[in-house]
Amino acid sequence: MRNFRFLMPTEIRFGDGVVGRVGQEASCQGKRALVVTGKQSSKSSGALDTVVDSLRTAGLTVEVFDQTEENPSAQTVERGGEMGRKMGCEVVVALGGGSPMDAAKGGAILVSLEGRLQDYFGSGKVTGPVLPVVAVPTTAGTGSEVTPYAVFVDPEKGMKRSVASPFVFPRIALLDPKLTVSMPPDVTANTGIDALSHALEGFTSTKAQPTTDLFALEAISLMSRHLPQAVAHGHDLEARSQVLYASMLAGVVIAQTGTTLLHGMGYAPTTKYNIPHGLSNAVLMPHVMAFNGVTHGERYAQLAMAMGRRNEAVLGTELAIEAVKCLRDELKMPMRLRDLGVKEEDLEDFARETMEHTRNLANNVRQVSFEDVLQIYRDSY
Ligand SMILES: [Fe+2]
Repeated sequence: MRNFRFLMPTEIRFGDGVVGRVGQEASCQGKRALVVTGKQSSKSSGALDTVVDSLRTAGLTVEVFDQTEENPSAQTVERGGEMGRKMGCEVVVALGGGSPMDAAKGGAILVSLEGRLQDYFGSGKVTGPVLPVVAVPTTAGTGSEVTPYAVFVDPEKGMKRSVASPFVFPRIALLDPKLTVSMPPDVTANTGIDALSHALEGFTSTKAQPTTDLFALEAISLMSRHLPQAVAHGHDLEARSQVLYASMLAGVVIAQTGTTLLHGMGYAPTTKYNIPHGLSNAVLMPHVMAFNGVTHGERYAQLAMAMGRRNEAVLGTELAIEAVKCLRDELKMPMRLRDLGVKEEDLEDFARETMEHTRNLANNVRQVSFEDVLQIYRDSY
């Protein structure tokens, strides 16, 4: 068996009503809280009021930064950090999907450490403790509530860059399935597929390990079984619970293994066309699987089994691809990059950008060249 390290310093609380604990939990970390959230959905769903009331009832001073856009820019995060510094923030509460959670992590870094957000892009640049983050996800996909990563748009390069450091793990994750009930079907599908890609990439990462394999296969199995129901019947709390749980498991996986070629390729269409992160991954997913499956078919056979597919006569990779395509069809997701408005002449730029995501490429089970990446984009077009 291979050697491994498994690190999960985030305390996880899961269940109906756990959002009501946010005041109590945050008050153990500090007395002045900055809530970082998006511009709309947490307000219209009532989640922001619930969180702010809970924090104030617990005696905290609260300010709200509600300017986080989808795919947060470094400038936005710096504005949030500035707000946190001015109020003497002691604990950051992240409320929303991946974007507010990543912005909250960035804000916590900027309140605690000197310099600009760009100074911390890369792996291990955050070298000391930062403000505690209490993460309250309202989508089920990003897994950011249990990861040491935060992804931002770099204003200078116009591309996605990530911060990776064990100090970036949230202190506490409060996973309340009821908060995800108000997600519209398309957001449920996109974020769910993002979680599926985390599990799938973790399972085919060079850093895959026995423990993450367990989590990844369970996440893949649960997501493929329950995501269609959560999309079609958003008020089914059991389906919502299973999907949120699977998403968290997949987050624990990538916290150890990192993401791989699929995420590396998904970033460029997202940044250039503002395509939701999960949707970009969904379109590319079968083609990346076909590429990796050439050398790692056995892993994909296991993955296909987790999705309920078994057929001795058909290669594992083909079975897994078929399962993913069926799931995507069931969720009525677009199938090609052209369906998302991407122009064919962008594909070379996308491939060049992908080659800069060296950490993703290093984690991928199969070595990949610029030509390989370009071919995968063309196959996905
Ligand atoms: Fe992701």
